[in-house]
Amino acid sequence: MILFALVIKKERDMDKRVLEKIRKIVHEKSGISLGENKNVLVTSRLGKRMKLLDITDYSEYLKYLTGENGEDETIKLLDVVSTNVTSFFREGEHFELLRKVVLNWKKNRQSRFRIWSAACSTGEEAYSIAMTLCEMADIYQGNVKILATDLSTDVLGTAKEGIYSKEKTKGISSQMLTKYFNTVRGSEDNDVQANDQIKKMISFYRLNLAEIPYPMSGPFDVVFCRNVMIYFQNDFREKLLREIARLIRPDGYFFTGHSESIINLSDDFKSLGPSVYIKKAG
Ligand SMILES: C[S@@+](CC[C@H](N)C(=O)[O-])C[C@H]1O[C@@H](n2cnc3c(N)ncnc32)[C@H](O)[C@@H]1O
Repeated sequence: MILFALVIKKERDMDKRVLEKIRKIVHEKSGISLGENKNVLVTSRLGKRMKLLDITDYSEYLKYLTGENGEDETIKLLDVVSTNVTSFFREGEHFELLRKVVLNWKKNRQSRFRIWSAACSTGEEAYSIAMTLCEMADIYQGNVKILATDLSTDVLGTAKEGIYSKEKTKGISSQMLTKYFNTVRGSEDNDVQANDQIKKMISFYRLNLAEIPYPMSGPFDVVFCRNVMIYFQNDFREKLLREIARLIRPDGYFFTGHSESIINLSDDFKSLGPSVYIKKAG
């Protein structure tokens, strides 16, 4: 009995050490910090990935992850550990403010607008931006470019396809739903698909925020980087903010998630209230 308990303890210690190495790889590759408090989440998500690969223990998985399939497997690993919760018109005041700001710029004779949804998840944020601008009279959609990026290839697949269950479209007004989405014929869950009018405004790409500098040259008028900094630590947040500041034009707008503050992390932005910032000029 004692021997059995000792064997179990040894296995647990070994799992802990291996999990720690996997956590470290996730942190190095993506900036995502998976603390001990995320143990249950990590093991259950990792378990699903290992099951798919027919791998039964963490050491074997670590070998696979650091072996010749490592590069591809790292992408899959980051897919499974990232949290992708999002919704249409989430934190709705940002879209109302976006409308006002663009209207103001339009009055000042600006006609082209570039907006970046960094960490766009399954696309709801980018489509919400597109609908907001489409609803504005006098804005020529061909002059609006929305870049939408994420680390996870899984969510980007959904985003590009633009198909959502009826349940997921709750945040969209019925008028906009009719105008910008088509019913997917034959779907059991009354799925809808974003139409070409809003799809054409958005380019979806994989971009890992941890790989600085980013390949775009900017400048963006507005950047949404919402509900992703919560997964990072302050030293990485500071670098991320410096890079975002480089890519936003002076007086451009920067939106973070409601629970994310950049105070004390960046001198490049002026706060306009919780989760809304302006890039300082000069
Ligand atoms: C909770 S979702 C937020 C989605 C959307 N911005 C919103 O606020 O509703 C967080 C997203 O960040 C992405 N993410 C996490 N780490 C990332 C990184 N290093 N680079 C790019 N995206 C990342 C995840 O894949 C996930 O889709």
